[in-house]
Amino acid sequence: MNEDLGTVKIYRYNPAVDVEPRFDVFEDVPYVGRTVMDVLRDLYERRDTSLAFRCSCRAGLCTACRMRINGRAAMACMRLAERDMVIEPPSTGAIIKDLMTTLSGSSTDEGTA
Ligand code: FES
Repeated sequence: MNEDLGTVKIYRYNPAVDVEPRFDVFEDVPYVGRTVMDVLRDLYERRDTSLAFRCSCRAGLCTACRMRINGRAAMACMRLAERDMVIEPPSTGAIIKDLMTTLSGSSTDEGTA
């Protein structure tokens, strides 16, 4: 077992096509010294380009990357990744897709990835 690899469980839901939400599990994910955003971008680029999440400043300034990580609210660009993570959308806002929600809580807001 490689100690530098972890497991990431990610909330997936596209209200336009899915009957209900599910979690996808990604094994053997490098996490040491990386932020949660680094992990998400790597998963997107290497394993699943359908994964939706917000990322903008990558400096903790814009709050676009707010989500729940292991049950706690956090900004993914500022939070260090852990060996085992459950990543869910923020508890406020309507789900647009996966980890991406409306910014103000309105279900009519347009999102950007
Ligand atoms: S991307 Fe702006 S706060 Fe994380």
